Amino acid sequence: MTRFDVVVLGELNVDLIVRGDVVPRWAQAEQLLDDATLTLGSSAAIMASGCARLGLRTAFIGLVGADLFGALCGDHLAARGIDIGGVTVAPDLRTGCTIVLQRDADRTMLTFPGAMAHFGRAHVAADAFCGVRHVHLASPFLQPALRPAIAEVLASARAAGATTSLDPNWDPAGRWDDVPDWLPQLDIFLPNDAEACAIVRAHHDAAATLEDAIAWLAARVPLLAVKCGAAGAIARWGAQHVHCAPPAVVPVDAVGAGDSFDAGLLCGYLAGWPLEQILHAAVVCGALSTRAAGGTAAQATRAEMSAALDDRAG
Ligand SMILES: Nc1ncnc2c1ncn2[C@@H]1O[C@H](COP(=O)(O)OP(=O)(O)OP(=O)(O)O)[C@@H](O)[C@H]1O
Ligand SMILES: [Mg+2]
Repeated sequence: MTRFDVVVLGELNVDLIVRGDVVPRWAQAEQLLDDATLTLGSSAAIMASGCARLGLRTAFIGLVGADLFGALCGDHLAARGIDIGGVTVAPDLRTGCTIVLQRDADRTMLTFPGAMAHFGRAHVAADAFCGVRHVHLASPFLQPALRPAIAEVLASARAAGATTSLDPNWDPAGRWDDVPDWLPQLDIFLPNDAEACAIVRAHHDAAATLEDAIAWLAARVPLLAVKCGAAGAIARWGAQHVHCAPPAVVPVDAVGAGDSFDAGLLCGYLAGWPLEQILHAAVVCGALSTRAAGGTAAQATRAEMSAALDDRAG
């Protein structure tokens, strides 16, 4: 008997998404913004929310501080029906926060890591992966305490019978350490195009093109899916190579689109679909998530995803 379809491990913080035609200036005491939204942030939490929205039985393992932001994270996850028994609340830590400043189509992000920098192996219970079909991990480079244990965590998930996936997101240090040690423990690897190129340039060929990067990574992991923003995504699974464009949407913001993509891809993977249908599900979920501000508000339900897939097939 399985308890969960997916257990997500990773960072847990809030996003304060602000929009306005401003460039912050130190000397100027106050500048006005057009909009502000405080919501659940972090790649791992947005991905878990996407999975739950698609009907997957989902659990989260992470760490927050005993504060308002931590409570907001827990409430958001629980409201989606996600099991938060694996979320530790640390009274001596503060929950992290990302300020997402949006101006026209441009955005910049300022992150206080807080508790996410302290999340480590000790916060993952010994029986965390029993009766679990799949384990997903996100943003290793924002979690220095967890990073040395990631290969072992993934191996223990597999030893318990789960399949595994990782979304690297960006490495602020630009070094991409340890990725070659993680790839052999993965069933699915989910970088975006810039991340895929940066990883391969750091570890193999400083002049690697996207095509080179895909070939190098695909030789090291069973299923590779590379996200390419509005251009959709590319996937390789053994000898199969697929590209999918997303459906037409009018994006409000693309915060968390990659994480909603991951959720759609996993939904199709766990359903045993063929690669082309899996990638279609992923790009549909990524695109639909851009319909509202923040990562989780407009994530696709199972019915919305199915309708969009039917539209494409028709
Ligand atoms: N502007 C857009 N229009 C339509 N679809 C989009 C757009 N931006 C993203 N998507 C969809 O979301 C998917 C993932 O987006 P993206 O490539 O931005 O991932 P990412 O870089 O990992 O994002 P993040 O880490 O910021 O969540 C794309 O493959 C596409 O299906
Ligand atoms: Mg991403």
